[in-house]
Amino acid sequence: MNSVNNSITKDTFALTTPLYYVNGLPHIGSAYTTMAADAIARWQRLAGREVLLLTGTDEHGQKIQRTAEENGVEPQAHCDRISATFKELWEKLNIQYDRFSRTTAPNHEKIVQEFLGRVWEKGDIYLDQQQGWYCVACEEFKEERELLEDGCCPIHTNRKAEWRDEQNYFFRLSAYQEKLEKFYQENPDFIQPVSRRNEVLNFVKGGLQDFSISRVNLDWGIPIPENPEHTIYVWFDALLGYITPLLEEGEEVTLANALKKWYPYSLHLIGKDILRFHAIYWVAMLMSADLPLPKQVFGHGFLTKDGQKMGKSLGNTLDPVELLEKYDSDAVRYYFLKAIEFGKDGDFNETRFVNTLNADLANDLGNLLNRSLGMLKKYCKGSLDDGLTISEDNPIKKIGETLCDRTSNAYNKYQFHQACEEIMELVRACNKYIDESAPWALHKQGESQKVQEILYTVLESVRLSGLLLVPIIPNISSKIYQQLGFNYDFNNKNLTINSEALKDHFSWGTLSLNKDLNRAVPIFAKLEIGDSN
Ligand code: MSP
Repeated sequence: MNSVNNSITKDTFALTTPLYYVNGLPHIGSAYTTMAADAIARWQRLAGREVLLLTGTDEHGQKIQRTAEENGVEPQAHCDRISATFKELWEKLNIQYDRFSRTTAPNHEKIVQEFLGRVWEKGDIYLDQQQGWYCVACEEFKEERELLEDGCCPIHTNRKAEWRDEQNYFFRLSAYQEKLEKFYQENPDFIQPVSRRNEVLNFVKGGLQDFSISRVNLDWGIPIPENPEHTIYVWFDALLGYITPLLEEGEEVTLANALKKWYPYSLHLIGKDILRFHAIYWVAMLMSADLPLPKQVFGHGFLTKDGQKMGKSLGNTLDPVELLEKYDSDAVRYYFLKAIEFGKDGDFNETRFVNTLNADLANDLGNLLNRSLGMLKKYCKGSLDDGLTISEDNPIKKIGETLCDRTSNAYNKYQFHQACEEIMELVRACNKYIDESAPWALHKQGESQKVQEILYTVLESVRLSGLLLVPIIPNISSKIYQQLGFNYDFNNKNLTINSEALKDHFSWGTLSLNKDLNRAVPIFAKLEIGDSN
């Protein structure tokens, strides 16, 4: 458990997902970021830190205003409806968020205006003419050279960018070029993974241009106090959505109060398409306002379906709600976090989904628990002796004793697939160990000590695997623990390394497993394609 303990340099860990646009129902991309954020939050909590996970919805701007108009409803009513569907999805995905930010929340306007005031006083805001191509779907101006031949931006190939020629307020981003470069140099881990860091460094090296932070002829947004015909650019407003909900209930609405406890963030978890906003614009905005900077921005990859980019026009979107109607939350979480290397692009394919879950959770892990509890009942009357000695050359002991450190390292780097792989390696080794040591034969030969050693070794490995899988599949972990005689529910946030209940649980071979070993029940039923469970 050393690396868990060593990784605790500060005892709080605050992280965010992006605030999702409410122009449509939640899609699998939003679900992916949120699952990963939840796994990180659960890991940090389990490792003893006080954690705050913020998620939420981004509700202002032209895109939302237009969607509401198209649906014939007031923008606020539209936002309320869609925002609620995100909360419902997080419930289904078993996401334990602590704050839900909505950029239309009552306190937010005041925080945005106070922040803008600080940047204004710094002399970083000025009025100028903005001419250029605006992609409403991205809510971003694009360089002409970035657009495709038909005038669409490469991310939204069915929406033409629109020409704008208007007076806007600008933020003096160019003034932060050197400061930013120095910051990235002094904080080499700030942007993760490394490929994204290089992308940002190259972009910054190319020269930063000021960007406009206001829009005219747009009602759905926060007005600029000095000139209310202008509303604040949706991104400027949204990034501050990471701050407003840090205020405690009833506290006076000031930036200072909001920043008191949890700020600065340990991590902003985002997809690669919104890297510039977080790693460049947001950092410069905070520098301008003289506020501390987040510790890290991690840009994950994009998901495809059956090898193809997902899109409504292609008719191949993957609806997270439909997926969760067919398969339960642990199954969905396991696939996305185990089968895709976090940081890289990844694919969803239903056959691969079913095969991965059946192989790892039903066959390797589930059967291991089931068969060893079955043998315990048959050969040892359902209980293990106290104080068993495990021989030094036991092959499982060697892997088991280092598992926690290896898994911690992976989680601390947000490499969920690697954490799962380390755990599954132990699980597979246990299956092999049983096959090779043949406890059924040893039992016949009257070698009851050896049988006890084998079964303890395996059950202890399943226990530790279950514990280390809590961030990914908390419900299955609870089922495993319950069968091993611990009546724990790992959705309980108080179960951490610092709790009495889990005190000795983070190492291999230190616990006795001699009580209430419940009857074996499958922890994960085998799936068929299109299954409903
Ligand atoms: N509203 C902004 C974020 C403001 S944060 C202050 C926004 N919202 S979004 O709803 O469009 O996107 C949210 C997240 O979904 C982004 O992190 C994006 O990368 C992610 N994804 C969108 N499509 C995706 C995939 N196909 N695959 C994986 N994630 C993708 O941007």
